[in-house]
Amino acid sequence: PENVGILAVEIYFPKRCIDQAKLEKYDGVSAGKYTIGLGQTKMGFCDDREDINSIALTVVQNLIEKYKISYKDIGRVEVGTETIIDKSKSVKSVIMQLFKESGNTDVDGIDTTNACYGGTSALFNALNWIESSSWDGRYALVIAGDIAVYASGPARPTGGAGCVALLIGKDAPIVFDRGLRGIHMEHVWDFYKPDLTSEFPEVDGHLSNACYLKSLDTCYNRFMTKLITKEKVEKPTVNFFDYMLFHTPYCKLVQKSYARLFYDDFVRNPEDPCFKSVQHFKDMSVEESLRSKDLEKAFMELSKPYYEKKVKPTLLASTQVGNMYCASLYSTLASLLSNVPADDLTGKRVGMFSYGSGLASSFFSFQIKKSVADISKILDVPNRLKSRLELAPEKFSEVMKLREELHGQKGYVPLGDGSSTEDAFFSGTYYLEQIDSKWRRSYKRT
Ligand code: ACO
Repeated sequence: PENVGILAVEIYFPKRCIDQAKLEKYDGVSAGKYTIGLGQTKMGFCDDREDINSIALTVVQNLIEKYKISYKDIGRVEVGTETIIDKSKSVKSVIMQLFKESGNTDVDGIDTTNACYGGTSALFNALNWIESSSWDGRYALVIAGDIAVYASGPARPTGGAGCVALLIGKDAPIVFDRGLRGIHMEHVWDFYKPDLTSEFPEVDGHLSNACYLKSLDTCYNRFMTKLITKEKVEKPTVNFFDYMLFHTPYCKLVQKSYARLFYDDFVRNPEDPCFKSVQHFKDMSVEESLRSKDLEKAFMELSKPYYEKKVKPTLLASTQVGNMYCASLYSTLASLLSNVPADDLTGKRVGMFSYGSGLASSFFSFQIKKSVADISKILDVPNRLKSRLELAPEKFSEVMKLREELHGQKGYVPLGDGSSTEDAFFSGTYYLEQIDSKWRRSYKRT
């Protein structure tokens, strides 16, 4: 099959959010730490009526309805998530409820997990399936989502929640480049979830940042080497990409990451005239370059005009919703598709960097070969963000406490935060109705 890629995209994020400037005050940290230091303006959150199953059910059913797809035409469903509730039972199996009426149970695929990387692994599985002898001509559906919550403390403002569904098939407008993936995998304890009685991760934030940037270097350089050897591109640079999408734990890290690609280009080709202003970094070791604030500042300065044009528009949802773990990278795709006019996107090449702690990472790319105007209209991320409700940090804190207390309990009806389902959810949202005495969860839709 030719032109294998994305035919449809749908995103879900919670209707409720808090303002990060107000959270700075509430947490008693210096003004600007979350908004400027981390680059976040708002954060989405869920009460105990939402879980990974409900947000995945929501995004799938909404995609099917909005694009008028038949469940019969889907032959594979892959879920990437690190929000674990039933441990051995997959989110994919819960999604099969939606297929019931169609009678289609011939649906390959299950869940895949490694921190924020599961969605990318799910996507690669779907693409590989379509290119393989197992493919039967039907679509694949990739779901990437998480509820990202941290214990109170410095990591909490980098939470969020969201889910993205991608319909994968042939003759797509968004076509993945073949044979160019740059992969890097390693054993590191930067972020993991060993305590199954808690939703919170064990996280070494600064180590995770360092691992992210080092992985970016490795994956990008491997991708560039393939561009040179396989595609015979001479002296490729970051300008090969019209837009760049990154896994986005918080937006400031993405701005630094984009600048890092310029540094990687500089190491490969220091004589390029565009690097005149940074020649004094020529003899700095790569190890030291990761620690040097001067270098970081210089390359952020150098890349800034390009960042504004090629990266910033992709961070719309991430800035206002926060980290969605597996969905985070794919939310930058949704933002790109609905925040840049569709006419400007046709013919453009886009790079993607995926990172999941622990760690798994890759750099890959796609081309927009046909108009994405329909996808853009359906996504409508800017207006959906505007139609949310802002709650006070006190309320957010209460909700986090509620989730913490009820995590892992059985035989109860979710309490919510006292708001009606109309106030709490966009229409068409699934929510948890009850967890019975055997921890079996059932859902309703608004
Ligand atoms: N005004 C402006 N900037 C400020 C202010 C202020 N008042 N106060 C602090 N800052 C800046 C700091 O200088 C720093 O910027 P820099 O890194 O460019 O120097 C930034 O804000 C953050 O401040 P730190 O003191 O480094 O923050 P802290 O250590 O408290 O926490 C961290 C930050 C580690 C990112 C934390 O939020 C965390 O652990 N998050 C979760 C882990 C994470 O997201 N990792 C990323 C990859 S892995 C993943 O996706 C989970």
